[in-house]
Amino acid sequence: MSLFDLQAEDAKAQHKKLSDKMRAADKAYYQNDAPEISDGEYDKLRGELEKIEADYPELVRADSPTQTIGAAPSRGFKKVKHAVAMLSLSNVFSEEEAQGFVDKVRRFLGLDENEIVALVAEPKIDGLSCSLRYENRILVQAATRGDGAEGEDITANVKTIACVPQNLPDDAPDILEVRGEIYMSRKAFNALNAAQLEKGKEPFANPRNAAAGSVRQLDVKVTEGRELGFFGYSIGEASYRFYDTHEELRQKLGQWGIPETSYTLCNSIEDIMGNYEDVLKSRPDLDYEIDGIVYKVNDVNWQARLGFISRSPRWATAHKFPAEQAITRIEAIDIQVGRTGALTPVARLSPVTVGGVVVSNATLHNEDEIARKDIRIGDTVVVQRAGDVIPQVVEVITEERNGSEEIFKPLNKCPDCGAHAVREEGDVIRRCSGGMTCPKQAIERLKHFVSRLAFDIDGLGDKIIQSFWEEGLIKNPADIFMLEAGNKDSLTPIRAREGWGGLSEKNLFKSINDRRSIALNRFIYALGIRQIGEATAKRLASTYATIDALTLAMVQAQDHEGEAYADLIAIEDIGPAAAQDLIAFFAEAHNITVLDALKSHLDIQPYEMPQVSDSPVAGKIVVFTGTLVQMTRAEAKAKAETLGAKVSGSVSKKTDYVVAGEDAGSKLKKAQSLDVTVLSEQNWLDLIS
Ligand code: IVH
Repeated sequence: MSLFDLQAEDAKAQHKKLSDKMRAADKAYYQNDAPEISDGEYDKLRGELEKIEADYPELVRADSPTQTIGAAPSRGFKKVKHAVAMLSLSNVFSEEEAQGFVDKVRRFLGLDENEIVALVAEPKIDGLSCSLRYENRILVQAATRGDGAEGEDITANVKTIACVPQNLPDDAPDILEVRGEIYMSRKAFNALNAAQLEKGKEPFANPRNAAAGSVRQLDVKVTEGRELGFFGYSIGEASYRFYDTHEELRQKLGQWGIPETSYTLCNSIEDIMGNYEDVLKSRPDLDYEIDGIVYKVNDVNWQARLGFISRSPRWATAHKFPAEQAITRIEAIDIQVGRTGALTPVARLSPVTVGGVVVSNATLHNEDEIARKDIRIGDTVVVQRAGDVIPQVVEVITEERNGSEEIFKPLNKCPDCGAHAVREEGDVIRRCSGGMTCPKQAIERLKHFVSRLAFDIDGLGDKIIQSFWEEGLIKNPADIFMLEAGNKDSLTPIRAREGWGGLSEKNLFKSINDRRSIALNRFIYALGIRQIGEATAKRLASTYATIDALTLAMVQAQDHEGEAYADLIAIEDIGPAAAQDLIAFFAEAHNITVLDALKSHLDIQPYEMPQVSDSPVAGKIVVFTGTLVQMTRAEAKAKAETLGAKVSGSVSKKTDYVVAGEDAGSKLKKAQSLDVTVLSEQNWLDLIS
């Protein structure tokens, strides 16, 4: 065999390998709507494949992923910033919890027991949310939800959906964003799957995946061939308010040609539960899939007063239908190591279909949970999944036992690094004590650092992080930003590695460089400090404004008697435990080293609380004390926060305003002694109105 033939053979094998990988990725992405590789990795595969095909044109076949319909130069859609955030919903699962939702609304608004809280109950459509933007009554943009702040531009695809109006009538506002759900009817879903099977293609798991897969097609012709529907359920930006109740909003949208589902007005828990039972009964007859009922406070003034908490409105919730269940066997119990060292037992299951999705893992939470449910390896169990939550083991069918089942023994060593696995008193979680030296923790921290709500670096998928870590290219987050510089003088540059090329290398550096400027809240979240989630990171960012101020405050807060500590635990959601985790993070020398390195590579932008720019109390520290009569304390606090003020529980020199209601006591005295401005409830309302 000549040298040339050998290379051609190699090329052929490589071509097949890459084609298979791309087909698998396409299937995961388009059919299951569960991408297994990042867009960057996908583009890289594509680039490699094109390179081989350019050199060996004889390998180009009609079914090559570079030739098939649906293939386009890049899988990415343009990103779209939402003018008003797209929110999600809190959930309730029972009559008690539904009652709890109404009670909370009542308490927040300070309503008396006899006052009726009217709710609109509407079906929760199981599809994908979409925002339609009309400017001068013309559909100009359609976007997916994405992370709520930024989604993907799917305008061309949505324009092919027959029931979505391209124009609104003259009486619609100049600017209107209609929010709703794109779905696929059961009928269309069955027809599509029959056609898929006929063509020898994989069927879709459920209508939601089919809808999502159909919309996220770069080739609009594919979307056009799929029968999709849309229901509107709320709005984003609008030039003016054209309704006083949610009912009226639905009516107006309906008049303007936006498809609306039916709904029921509920005035009591009896109405709520009666409707719930009715809808549950009629669910199989509906032509679209629903996974619950959404309750929305009808009065829009109340909605405005209730506002939002983190990512969901206080004025709405979803009453979810019971989870779908199936029976299967536990093959093994594995231990997963998380980024904070938490060791989580995971059941490996004989794959089983639950509600249209194949499930092969279920979380077991912790060892107490395993003991409480007496779960053994080899047991036959009931598993369930509801919505997007991780599948769970509900119970063991003990009658199925034959004596061969094994009791799970907690490990006393980390399965990854071998360090002691310790369970501290009062903690349900066992943790690896390896800290910085545990490879798995380090890798999980890196994955978290680049994840969507943190640095959101497209090109660094899980597999790449893993291999770069193993090769020593990236050991800690700061290394990511030195990758390009190191690569320049490297004897084995990234482009020379298997599966890489010049283009993919360039794209990787671009996606990293795009993130050298980052908002402080994302930066804090990315650090992966235990208990510091996205919402808390935002609060820390808005309280401390810069990373240096935060670092200094956390060092000062080591003194639990001092002001810094008092300020820290006055922040909403930060109790003594989270405070301790924060303080410990900033007390660790290694973390400070990485932090300093990161700072030298990054431009960390102050976090701006949304929609507060012209508020007179933005950035002010406010303390409420005494009894308020025109609003509840919770409402006052929420309102102040949406206006950009920081609400604190204690008075200090830094406090800007103390709002003193009736019978104010020690806090009022302290304010007077510190010369802090004291406002009456009415003064405060005048100030913010
Ligand atoms: S209201 C502030 N209403 O459920 C408004 N959402 O779990 C927030 N959904 O992202 C959404 N049917 O995609 C609303 N009738 C309905 C809905 C609905 C389905 C989806 C929506 C949302 C998700 C939240």
